[in-house]
Amino acid sequence: MPGDGYVREIPYTFGVQREMAPAQLALALLLAGFRPPALAGVRYAELGFGQGFNLALLAAANPTGRFCGNDILPAHLGFVRDLAARAALSNLSVSGTGFAGFADEVAGPFDLVALHGVWSWVGNRERQEVCGFLARHLDPAGAAYVSHNVLPGWAEALPLRTLLKAHVDRGTGPLAGRIRAALDFAHALADLPGSHLHASAAARERLAALARQPVAYLAHEYFNEAWTPRYVTDTLAELAIAGLALAGPAQGAEWLERRHLSPAHQALLAGAADAGHGELLYDFATNRPFRRDLFIPAGARPLDPAERDHLLDRVPFARLALPRRVPSRGTLPRGEVPLDRERCVGLMEALAAGPACAADLAAPGDTAPTRDSLLALAALGFVAPALPPGARGTAGDVAAFNDAVLDRAAVDDALGELASPVIGAGLALDRDERLFLRAHRQGRDPLAEARAALGRPPDLEDRLHRFGRERWPVLAPLLGLAA
Ligand SMILES: C[S@@+](CC[C@H](N)C(=O)[O-])C[C@H]1O[C@@H](n2cnc3c(N)ncnc32)[C@H](O)[C@@H]1O
Repeated sequence: MPGDGYVREIPYTFGVQREMAPAQLALALLLAGFRPPALAGVRYAELGFGQGFNLALLAAANPTGRFCGNDILPAHLGFVRDLAARAALSNLSVSGTGFAGFADEVAGPFDLVALHGVWSWVGNRERQEVCGFLARHLDPAGAAYVSHNVLPGWAEALPLRTLLKAHVDRGTGPLAGRIRAALDFAHALADLPGSHLHASAAARERLAALARQPVAYLAHEYFNEAWTPRYVTDTLAELAIAGLALAGPAQGAEWLERRHLSPAHQALLAGAADAGHGELLYDFATNRPFRRDLFIPAGARPLDPAERDHLLDRVPFARLALPRRVPSRGTLPRGEVPLDRERCVGLMEALAAGPACAADLAAPGDTAPTRDSLLALAALGFVAPALPPGARGTAGDVAAFNDAVLDRAAVDDALGELASPVIGAGLALDRDERLFLRAHRQGRDPLAEARAALGRPPDLEDRLHRFGRERWPVLAPLLGLAA
């Protein structure tokens, strides 16, 4: 049966991964030196979409595209179908079959295929089915996004997972209770002098992080039969059999990090014998536990650098924050990078007029510094690649989807992002911000509405003022509305 050994008792969480948006993937491909697919009419498939919130959001935010995906949990299918109906998404289709069945059902090819939190969380057979899907349905000019857990970053915490899983497998009663009991047991063991967990600072750190996560996340992250962090070289070899080669990182932050490596890191990586070895060394050098990678059909021709820069200069960017928020140094997960703040602030001010590209914003013949600043701002999340005009939707295209998200805020905090037809991606809003916006759309008092859902947090009035002053001027144009 498809998905044997996968946790079915508890549905997953409702996360949004901004790297999976078509415009973000297109930019990452370009940064890696490959021509991205056209975003107007993009054909997109997601494998193992979880609750499908991310996929439905992308369908709403990219109305010219065609989106489809699969997941085996009936509760996930039910949620996404309901959301798609509420949001009247005619460009989204979903399936409850496994990867092999889905490959037989769908009509490819796809420009973009994405799988997040799947590769390391399913067994060998399922990974082979994913490879089969990619070999059969990825367009020769397309790209695949694959996130995966890697060694050696996970090495020190592997015994913790074995311990927790053994406890859960031997327990009785509902899974949520068994997970909590396993965490309690691990905490007791960590307090025992001389025990493995007591001795391993990395494992104790990981345990403390787990205890802060919702049980729905933990169930899917750690308690499937298969959970296999691997060396990147093993994943590269497996995907090579499917005809795929690594293009580069899917995350702008990693692209920026790699541009600013310390001399010691550079010297170490310069010793790599080949590209795969370089990736392995990078994982050892950074000790990161997780990767987000972009793959392309092996043999795809890279752009020459001048062609790549020409295309980068024509990527439109939209701003996600007010210019005064730009710092003088950019913070990345593993350190800081310098920013040309004056130039960045000037660019963010110019973007108040709407999305623009380096070629629009720079003096003729001198686009490189503008391009570099825009790309750094994008990697740091101050701007996002916008859809080209032919692919862009309107406020009307996302209205029903966004209303469904805002309505959920009256009930709980599960759905945290609205769909932007300008960037074709999600916009994260805090729950109180979603409640203010919902009240505004319905012509009601925002403070009263927020209080009805949240009680009486002391700073709610301040937060409403901040929302009007700081957030709405940025959010409104991204939602296709007047500020
Ligand atoms: C860790 S969750 C990640 C979900 C989603 N991609 C996300 O990031 O929110 C893995 C998902 O893969 C799905 N899955 C597992 N085995 C599958 C299979 N054989 N076919 C389709 N989906 C599968 C699960 O139901 C689950 O929703």
